[in-house]
Amino acid sequence: MATDVIEKPITAVESDFLPLLGTDFVEFYVGNAKQAAHFYKTAFGFQELAYSGPETGDREKASYVLAQDKVRLILTTALHPDHPIALHTHKHGDGVRAIALTVSDARDAFKQTTSRGAKPFMEPKEISDENGKVVISGIHIYGDTVHLFVQRSEYKGIFLPGFKKWETAYQPEPVGLKYIDHCVGNVGWNEMNPWVKFYEEVMGFRNILTFDDKQISTEYSALMSKVMSNGNGYVKFPINEPAKGKKKSQVEEYLDFYGSPGVQHIAIATDNIVETVSKLRARGVEFLQVPQTYYDELSKRVGTIQENIDTLRPLGILVDRDEEGYLLQIFTKPVEDRPTLFYEIIQRRGARSFGAGNFKALFEALEREQALRGNL
Ligand code: FE2
Repeated sequence: MATDVIEKPITAVESDFLPLLGTDFVEFYVGNAKQAAHFYKTAFGFQELAYSGPETGDREKASYVLAQDKVRLILTTALHPDHPIALHTHKHGDGVRAIALTVSDARDAFKQTTSRGAKPFMEPKEISDENGKVVISGIHIYGDTVHLFVQRSEYKGIFLPGFKKWETAYQPEPVGLKYIDHCVGNVGWNEMNPWVKFYEEVMGFRNILTFDDKQISTEYSALMSKVMSNGNGYVKFPINEPAKGKKKSQVEEYLDFYGSPGVQHIAIATDNIVETVSKLRARGVEFLQVPQTYYDELSKRVGTIQENIDTLRPLGILVDRDEEGYLLQIFTKPVEDRPTLFYEIIQRRGARSFGAGNFKALFEALEREQALRGNL
């Protein structure tokens, strides 16, 4: 529970030199974007939004943009074997390439971050079509991952210039996913604090929560984590690093299979987790399963909640409480064959923490999966 974590008091943020309006989109580089897009529609209820590829004049790659309420994902694949996107998927498997952040001034975001030491990825670039203009810039973060800054206030089109509306006859219903709550990065041994410093100094974020390896450990594996938040709290990036345990840390397993630091999980908020998880399960999404004994102790641990524990139990939904309220959460199994990226579904009822009270039960469930893969 959040009572065992160190929470720094929220002080007035001086001048926020990198004001962020939210997460604009997350872009994945994948081996087969057409099939991945079908999975995100069928399994997760994403809606088709936009497309770019050879038919729109891009001979190098194809991109499918999917949306569900405020969440936008882009799935991009290379059309040729020596394209950098193909090399990315060869090395990492399918994974997150870019976490794009909406800003009111992408030129200034680039200037503010690169002048503080960020490695430039994309100089500010203006792109336009008949629907207006967008300015995009970008910087490198951990591994082969980048942040893009997207300034779109003068754009009225469906997504970005270069994309056309994407529509098919197959349109499964959404499952109630609302917005990205946080994106977690896994970095290497002793790299958490340098990345915390990066988010503080280069991006103007604050460290709002810290979990040491004593809080996040089971009999076997351990990790450390610090949660970074931007000034207005719209964007939160926990950063994990492996810690020494009797056996291999789950973060180490990720690093071995991803081939570098990268995005470990994306947490997406819903305002009805029971309904959302019921729909996801019915569509074949696989979740980590904690032992049924977890629920025997639950009401003692979290007190009164609005949901019926007998409804949560068969769905495998977890609950945690902090000083401000409680949250409900559940984690999928990795959505690729490599044990890399997975999703969290979260519903906050006042709590602003991250479910530390569930870590032990969850990590034990995760280790059972790791052992099945022969990686513990
Ligand atoms: Fe999370």
